[in-house]
Amino acid sequence: MNQIAKYRRCITTVSLIGFCILLFAQCVNRENDKKANDKVASSTDSTRDPVDLAQFAGSASCAGCHKNIYDSHIHTAHYLTTRPALEKYIKGSFEKGKNRYAYDSGRVVVMEKRDSGLYQVGYYQGTEKVAGRFDIVVGSGSKGQTYITRFHQQLYQLPVSYFTAAGSWANSPLYPTYPVLFNRPITSRCLECHSTFVKVVSAPGIEPEEFDSQMIYGIDCERCHGPAARHVAFQSRNPKETTGKYIINPASFSRKQRLDLCALCHGGRMQKTKPSFGFVAGDKLADYFMVDTVRPDPEQVDVHGNQYGLLRSSKCFMMSPDMTCNTCHNPHENERGNIALFSSRCITCHNKEHNSFCKISGRAGPSLVKNCIDCHMPLQPSKSITELLPGDTKPTAALIRSHLIAIYPDETIHQKPGLPKIH
Ligand code: HEC
Ligand code: HEC
Ligand code: HEC
Ligand code: HEC
Ligand code: HEC
Ligand code: HEC
Ligand code: HEC
Repeated sequence: MNQIAKYRRCITTVSLIGFCILLFAQCVNRENDKKANDKVASSTDSTRDPVDLAQFAGSASCAGCHKNIYDSHIHTAHYLTTRPALEKYIKGSFEKGKNRYAYDSGRVVVMEKRDSGLYQVGYYQGTEKVAGRFDIVVGSGSKGQTYITRFHQQLYQLPVSYFTAAGSWANSPLYPTYPVLFNRPITSRCLECHSTFVKVVSAPGIEPEEFDSQMIYGIDCERCHGPAARHVAFQSRNPKETTGKYIINPASFSRKQRLDLCALCHGGRMQKTKPSFGFVAGDKLADYFMVDTVRPDPEQVDVHGNQYGLLRSSKCFMMSPDMTCNTCHNPHENERGNIALFSSRCITCHNKEHNSFCKISGRAGPSLVKNCIDCHMPLQPSKSITELLPGDTKPTAALIRSHLIAIYPDETIHQKPGLPKIH
């Protein structure tokens, strides 16, 4: 690990932007805050204790009493989005021949198993120059994974990531290909969106930030229900109690509170005003970030990381006073790829009775109802998740579902040549 420090001194520090550069700020304040959740003190309430590790119980402790939810939750992208770097969680291969990323003939990073763990090792003309251990895996892997190494109490992104669409190792997004660097600090902002809790131990303003070694991996139950040690202790002591105490249920939230909870991580790039690990479900996003009250221009919003920005520019959202993310997404289930199920949720509003069925239904026939998604929420290339594959000179973009629900005449033609023949 010493080598990292040495290596870092001899290179110019390049300031790099995130894997998820979330480009444009947004968030609307127009929806009225109907009522605050009476079970939670709001973030402006100074009587609430600051969020700390001791207040968390961990999802394993929920399993005994909420078994069904727990069993499905552990298969979600949320739960899987950060994990300790065990070989079984890393999608790329450590097999000889498949375990390298070559920048050119002289400069290679090799993924190696060593006694003290799994490493990315940088070689120049066959000589080892620098090595960083895989410590944390970021990404459930649907689009890709990137890896974090600890150096004392600091965290750095490793130079080689995994790109699922290509099934191969790739240069970490926005890392330069020359020189080969191991020096991009991971900030608390990354982990605020990709984990449930980790304590920043360095003083404010110190960069790179320093972190406690304990961390609650993934977007776990308590990120959306608030720290729950007290709930677990109470319900365990009072097994006959049938109402839940000391726990937040977003079912009782206003629309704005529900949207703020998801927009915390799906609302694009926002200027932080307070550390958002302090954000507890039910809080106002505007108490932690400078939020933009102007509806964003969909042309300017990247499909990655900003589902809220795009959705709120859609007619469906603007003209349905109750629509939230949960209208289409069950927060406890992995429903990825189940296009027929998502389409059935469109049809709860768009049907013949409401006189708002698809205009092309006459031409497209009955199979139309199984897939509203590819025509009206097409996959689009991200401007910010792009990876350079071995041997390529231009980066390849990840394809992400657009949440600007609209009519895309081009997509309809591209994806479904010879309308009305679909599927
Ligand atoms: C000892 C049993 C027990 C444990 C452990 C437990 N709960 Fe509960 N929980 C209950 C009971 C009982 C209720 C009330 C009945 C219901 O809503 O299921 C409840 C209700 C809830 C509710 C709904 C609250 C409401 O107002 O409607 C949420 C959310 C919740 N629990 C989350 C959690 C989470 C997260 C964990 C783990 C960190 C957890 N629970 C651990 C017993 C438990
Ligand atoms: C603390 C951050 C955070 C919060 C809060 C959050 N998400 Fe996520 N969400 C993520 C991250 C990170 C991913 C990407 C995980 C991955 O694939 O590694 C994700 C992925 C998803 C996905 C894609 C699932 C898949 O199978 O690929 C959906 C859908 C989603 N979130 C919906 C929601 C909804 C709805 C809410 C609000 C109830 C919400 N999220 C709240 C961080 C968050
Ligand atoms: C504002 C919240 C936010 C921040 C900050 C953020 N991410 Fe993400 N990230 C997401 C969401 C949401 C997704 C998945 C959905 C999407 O692509 O829109 C995601 C996807 C990813 C993925 C792909 C996951 C998969 O399974 O395909 C990786 C890897 C990743 N992020 C790494 C990082 C790293 C490294 C940082 C810090 C440099 C970071 N992210 C910062 C929210 C965030
Ligand atoms: C991404 C955020 C998120 C995560 C993670 C999450 N929940 Fe929930 N949960 C919600 C939302 C939102 C609701 C309210 C759903 C609704 O509107 O009915 C909810 C509702 C509940 C309820 C009330 C009963 C019900 O089904 O509506 C319980 C109990 C619960 N969650 C337990 C858990 C447990 C236990 C875990 C982890 C194993 C967990 N949740 C993880 C967002 C989340
Ligand atoms: C909560 C109800 C609701 C849900 C769910 C819903 N929509 Fe809509 N949608 C509306 C309303 C209201 C409008 C505006 C009036 C209209 O055109 O019928 C609309 C408009 C549209 C339009 C016209 C957009 C334009 O720019 O002209 C399309 C296309 C559309 N919806 C497709 C979908 C698809 C696909 C889904 C599922 C992924 C979906 N909707 C889910 C309520 C909904
Ligand atoms: C009208 C229905 C609808 C609403 C409302 C909706 N989504 Fe989605 N979302 C979808 C569909 C359909 C997909 C594609 C699912 C798939 O391909 O498996 C999707 C996919 C996603 C993904 C994965 C994107 C990717 O390409 O990997 C994320 C993250 C997500 N939604 C978050 C959200 C958030 C956050 C909100 C609220 C701001 C939201 N969604 C509101 C229908 C909806
Ligand atoms: C093959 C691609 C395709 C599929 C599949 C499809 N649509 Fe459409 N849809 C279109 C096109 C193209 C239009 C615009 C037609 C026009 O204006 O003549 C449209 C129009 C609409 C509109 C606007 C109607 C209006 O009054 O302006 C709605 C709402 C809609 N579709 C919903 C849906 C829903 C819900 C589904 C799934 C049940 C669906 N669509 C499936 C291509 C498709």
